[in-house]
Amino acid sequence: PIPLVLDVDTGIDDAMAILLAALHPGLDLRAVTCAGGNAPLEDVVRNTLTVLEIAGRTDVPVGVGARRPLLEQPVDARHVHGSDGMGDLGLPAPRTQPDPRIAVELLRDEAERAYAQGRPLTLVPLAPMTNVALLARVHPDAFARLRRVVFMGGGADVSNATAAAEFNVFHDPEATALVLDACVEHDVPVTMYGLDVFYAPRVTREQSQALRDLGTPVATLAAGLTSFHQRVFQDGTMTVGDAGAVASLLVPQAVRTERRPVRVELAGTWTRGRTIVDRRDWTGDMEHDPHGPARAMVDVCLGVDGDALRDVWL
Ligand code: BDR
Ligand code: CA
Repeated sequence: PIPLVLDVDTGIDDAMAILLAALHPGLDLRAVTCAGGNAPLEDVVRNTLTVLEIAGRTDVPVGVGARRPLLEQPVDARHVHGSDGMGDLGLPAPRTQPDPRIAVELLRDEAERAYAQGRPLTLVPLAPMTNVALLARVHPDAFARLRRVVFMGGGADVSNATAAAEFNVFHDPEATALVLDACVEHDVPVTMYGLDVFYAPRVTREQSQALRDLGTPVATLAAGLTSFHQRVFQDGTMTVGDAGAVASLLVPQAVRTERRPVRVELAGTWTRGRTIVDRRDWTGDMEHDPHGPARAMVDVCLGVDGDALRDVWL
């Protein structure tokens, strides 16, 4: 199984991702770290602990991380995720506590432990990347030991938070830029699972009902998450969102990537937080770009077999 750590802002689809990472035999979930994003940090931590408890994985340590972005003020997305950040499903409060280590310390420990075991860690950020940026700055040696980073964020052509930017990157653009730069500096491969593919893996109403009919605690939670009305498309389907990024680790052939230079817009009146994916020909205009070459080369997900990823999640 692939050793991995999720960094989350749980979050309906973060919860779906945690379920998959916690329960799939092909994955070895070592820890989950939390950042403010979809909901304020306290809600994110509570939701994360609750999901792990329902999944029977109270052995997975949960690290409390950044309350707010590096520079920006926090802006949550409760209009998308419900007032508790997780679909107002009326879930019980968790009985477990977060790990005493804060997120960057837990990330450092797990990166070093996996490296020492000869199976370096895959880090999967599904939230604003504040914690990951701090890891890169506070413990660069541990960051350098990562096997790869696969993050949900950005988009080559699609946006949601603003007309130009995706939520996770818009929330903390400096953190995203810093992480991409750290991946170059420490030679850590980075994959961007962005909005170009994010909406493709979708659960149908019938599939959601089939989960509900199973009646187990995990399936009941999964069914609740897939039927939160604010997230359901007009055709009755619902994206598994962040869980698709986790599923892509298990069926890499379901995702088409291109290695492209990526920059994060840190200025811009209307474009702050946009990921600028350079899709020009290598031999053409790119060479004469007055900005010079972009540092970060990112495996950008541009196509996906949504049903294949959805089926892995189901
Ligand atoms: C991202 O923002 C959050 O609302 C989701 O959990 C996902 O990580 C999509 O833009
Ligand atoms: Ca998320």
